[in-house]
Formats: sequence, C-alpha cells, structure tokens
Amino acid sequence: MRTLISGGTIVTAEGSRIADVLIDGESIVAIREGPELSASNADRTIDARGKLVIPGGIDVHTHMELPFGGTSAKDTFFTGTRAAAFGGTTSIVDFAVQSRGQSLREGLDAWHKKAEGHSVIDYGCHMIMSDVNDDSLKEMDALVGEGVPDFKLFTAYPGVFFSDDGAIFRAMQQSGKNGGMIMMHAENGLAIDVIAADTIAAGVTDPIGHGLARYSSLEGEATNRVIRLAEAAKVPVYIVHLSAKEAMQTVREAREAHLPVYAETCPQYLFLSLDNLGNGFEGSKFVCSPPLRSEDHQPALWDGLASDNLQVVATDHCPFDFHGQKELGRGDFRKIPNGLPGVEDRVDLLHDGGVLTGKITKERWVEICSTSPARLFGMYPKKGVIAVGSDADIVIYNPDATRTISATTHHMDVDYSCYEGREVKGKSEIVMVRGKVIVEGDKFLGHEGDGRFLHRSPAEYARRQL
Ligand code: URP
Ligand code: ZN
Ligand code: ZN
Repeated sequence: MRTLISGGTIVTAEGSRIADVLIDGESIVAIREGPELSASNADRTIDARGKLVIPGGIDVHTHMELPFGGTSAKDTFFTGTRAAAFGGTTSIVDFAVQSRGQSLREGLDAWHKKAEGHSVIDYGCHMIMSDVNDDSLKEMDALVGEGVPDFKLFTAYPGVFFSDDGAIFRAMQQSGKNGGMIMMHAENGLAIDVIAADTIAAGVTDPIGHGLARYSSLEGEATNRVIRLAEAAKVPVYIVHLSAKEAMQTVREAREAHLPVYAETCPQYLFLSLDNLGNGFEGSKFVCSPPLRSEDHQPALWDGLASDNLQVVATDHCPFDFHGQKELGRGDFRKIPNGLPGVEDRVDLLHDGGVLTGKITKERWVEICSTSPARLFGMYPKKGVIAVGSDADIVIYNPDATRTISATTHHMDVDYSCYEGREVKGKSEIVMVRGKVIVEGDKFLGHEGDGRFLHRSPAEYARRQL
C-alpha cells in the first residue's frame, strides 16, 4: 500500500516546509519539495493543503490499568490507546510496576500481558522499581537488553513506591553500568505524609488538603536531592511530572552546570491550578501528585519549555472515575486515588494554549510532543520525525478546526474531563501508525492489538555533553 500526502506543511523540530510525503508500507520512502510527487505512484492520495503534517505524538508517561489506592486506573491498553490516537498520539510508553516483594520480571510480564493484543498504537514500557535489592539490580541489566531501559523510582508514596536515598543511589550506579536511565518522581514523601496527617487533624479533609500539604518547596528539595545523587553516580536523570518553580530552578541550574539532567512537565501543570482542587469534593477530579500548583508556577514552566530546560510534555495519564473511584477519598483526601485523565488532549492543548498564544513555536510543539521523547527514550529516528526511513506515524493536523473538550465526546474511559467545556483550536484529522490510517475525522479505523511493542535502545542521547 502506497500513500501520498500532498501539499501539506511538514513540521519538524528543525523547521517547516510545504512538501509531499510518500509512504510505502510502514515507512516514509520519499519527501519532495517543489515538483510534486506523482499521485500515480500511490494507491491513495491525501490532500493536506492548508494542514500541518506532523510526526505522531509520543506520550512517554501513561498508566493504563495502574493499581493505585485500592483501585485501578480505568483505561485499558485498548481504550487508552484508542483515545490517544484520536488525540494525535501514535506511541506511548507506559509504566510497568514492580510491587514490593515482586521481581522486575513478574511486574514486566504482567504489563506485557495487559498490552499485547490490546494496544492500537505502538507501546513501550518503563519499569517502576519499588524494591531495590541485589536481585532487582541484576534484573535491570536484563531489562535494558529487552528494550525496557528506563526505571522510575520515587521519593514519594512511603510504604508503596518509596525508595530511600541509598536505594536510589544504587539503582543509579547500576544504570551507569548498563546504560539505562533513572526517572524520578521527586517529592519529599516522608515530610508530606506528616503534613498531610496534620492537615487532616486540623479538620481539612477535602481535596484542597492534598494541594496544601504537598508543598512545592518539598518538590524542589527532592528534585535537588536526586540531581545531586545522579551527579555523584555520574549518570543522567530524568525528572517526571515537574510542577513547581523551585524544581524548575534546580533543573535549570543543573543544566547550566552541564549536568545531564532532563525533565518533563504535564498539561495539567500548564493549564490547571490549585484553584481546581478547591470546589468541595469536586476537587477530587484534580487530585494528582505532585498536586496542581498556584498559577504563579506556570510562567517558570513555560519558560522552561521555551528554553529547553524542560524537554518533554507527557500526560501522566492515570484516569479514575469520579463516581466510585475518586469517591473512595470522601472524608480523607489521602484516600483519593492519585491521577488524572489526559492522553487524548495533550497535543491539542499545547497547540491551542502554547503555539496559538505564542508561548512556543509550532516546531517546538512538535519537538516537545514527539521528537524529544523519541530521542530521550531510544526511539529516534524510527519515531519522532518525518524523514525518509522513519516509521510512517503521521498526523494530518488541521490548525484551524475547533473542538470543545468534554467527557460526553472524549474517548477515554472515564466519567469526567479536567478540561470540560474548554474550546481548543487545532485537531488531528487523520492519524496514521506505520502507514495505516487508524483515525479519520471522528471514525476509528484501527484494530485492537495492532500496536507493537517498542523495543527501545538505551538513550545515548541522554548521555551526550550538554
Ligand atoms: O498522581 C499521579 N501522578 N498518579 C500516577 C502515579 C505517579 O506518581 O505518576
Ligand atoms: Zn509519579
Ligand atoms: Zn505517573
């Protein structure tokens, strides 16, 4: 099957130009500016005049079916990746979980089982390490060889995912030997738990307590601490879901000192705020960790994105229904399952709220949604770019179309939207994964199980000299 995309504006991290793209089977085989590629070469021609032709989005932070707080994130690999596709995302990297007492192998096998035969887009796995010991350290090496070269550790969630500094340092040292990368959830969970207990004792049990107890300074402290640990271990570190200006400052300083420190933020920290947590128990819809911050944190994040001190925007998609799941925390905000839905809205929110407001260029939009994630997580140039030889993961994006975000129309399997009623300009009209159209307008044309496991290489890119 050969498909010609004609007359669109190809946007890559490096620049934009009007050109034709020819796809043969799963790959891009030709890109031509000026004299058009002949439609007679193709089985199908897509007229992309007036549209942007962008590499499919890559969301490197999702949690399909994550067990958390006595329940599980609602989207399966099928429903979650179908929603991702509608939103212009053609690859995800989800977090497999090693629970306490389990091996990494058991955790990873369980994740392969959830994903294989169900994902509609290509998917990879990172590994959450909850138990750092001699065995799991050894297992890390095997996982790197199996295309799972990143490991998330937590300074948060004591008793669940939390690792102490010694455990984190050992995992970092191991990543120095096997080429893997350590991803850090950086909040001082031990101190936060004390403050949260004090907050409850003072009578604040509503979701706002979650935001008030998780001080931004304690995200800054933990971010600085894990950067220092990575510096001592002489390895790169990637800070996930960075939300606070204090954390941004410490990442910026580290990068200015040429340390291989990378960070992502999420749409919720750019477009939502502490105020969303404040409407009685309705605020539970917005409970995630780190928590939504006051609006005065947002300029530092936008500045980070514009200056490449933040390289990635991922969603941390982790949806729980308001009814029956978030409600587990009525009367005690500590029992509200942490996480928000968002995999479907990332590309559009950043186009509407980033590109159209002039905060980032459209080239930077492509870079933070697709190219940098591919580079940092060992997928480039197969993914993350429109180039000859790359997978034909392509989105035909209409920058002028508008839509209103709503739970009544979204495809995520969750009973609310964090952006209910928000109108966004820009929409993915055609979404292709490896040359196959899986979304066209409002129609889903993909198939459960068509997504392939992404066997990713250790990211040499993260180890380069800054
Ligand atoms: O609230 C969140 N972020 N839930 C998902 C787990 C995590 O920490 O990423
Ligand atoms: Zn986290
Ligand atoms: Zn997460």
